[in-house]
Amino acid sequence: MRRINYTFIIKWGLLILTLFFWITPGMSQEDRIIMNHEELGIHSRPLVIFPHNDHEGLTECIRCHHDYDEYMTNIGGDEGKCSDCHQATPGSNPINLTKAIHIQCKSCHMKSAKTNVNKGPVMCGQCHIR
Ligand code: HEC
Ligand code: HEC
Ligand code: HEC
Ligand code: HEC
Repeated sequence: MRRINYTFIIKWGLLILTLFFWITPGMSQEDRIIMNHEELGIHSRPLVIFPHNDHEGLTECIRCHHDYDEYMTNIGGDEGKCSDCHQATPGSNPINLTKAIHIQCKSCHMKSAKTNVNKGPVMCGQCHIR
């Protein structure tokens, strides 16, 4: 009968654990996303930096990463890109990409301006910063 080599298991176990925690953060979304959909072509406005991490605590993931069934009930989408469903020019989805993003960002910021001390930006130049 072979003896189990515990040191061997512990050493490799630790190495694999270290690698796991080292790689995992790299697989989640960036803290600050530079919004630059190539579908929109050369941007006419300065690129927008979206502080994703600051927004995660504000509402549920599916509030932004949504999908709707035939009764327009939000059934939650994958945590992917808005452009997975909203095209640059309205295609199968009636709301085009720029519009979808503007509506989602601004409607909440406008609401938060009324109810919150911390309000999000609503003016063009506050998001598209030169
Ligand atoms: C809450 C932040 C926010 C505000 C306010 C805002 N935008 Fe945007 N805008 C964005 C984001 C995010 C995108 C998507 C860019 C991307 O994903 O490539 C975008 C995209 C655009 C685009 C298409 C890409 C380009 O640069 O050609 C235009 C044009 C634009 N915005 C103009 C405006 C104008 C004009 C206003 C003011 C009336 C405005 N935006 C206000 C965040 C904002
Ligand atoms: C306030 C709106 C909002 C909330 C809340 C939110 N996200 Fe996002 N998230 C976005 C936007 C906008 C993008 C950029 C999408 C794009 O580039 O089209 C994004 C991008 C991502 C991406 C990268 C997608 C890719 O393929 O590039 C992941 C992963 C993600 N979010 C996960 C989450 C998770 C998990 C939560 C909840 C803990 C969450 N998000 C909450 C708006 C939000
Ligand atoms: C899995 C597909 C899918 C993804 C991904 C998706 N949407 Fe949508 N979105 C839809 C559908 C379907 C509708 C309903 C369109 C209609 O009126 O028929 C919709 C509607 C909207 C509306 C109008 C209704 C509302 O909820 O206010 C906005 C704004 C919007 N999307 C923004 C976004 C933004 C911003 C992102 C990225 C964070 C995103 N969507 C990602 C499928 C998607
Ligand atoms: C569910 C509501 C909600 C949605 C959707 C939302 N925001 Fe915000 N956002 C806020 C609130 C509330 C604040 C102010 C509180 C804070 O700074 O944490 C804010 C703050 C910001 C700020 C300023 C952050 C800073 O550090 O000064 C930027 C930039 C911003 N949002 C961009 C966006 C963009 C771009 C989108 C769309 C892709 C978006 N937000 C969608 C609620 C929202």
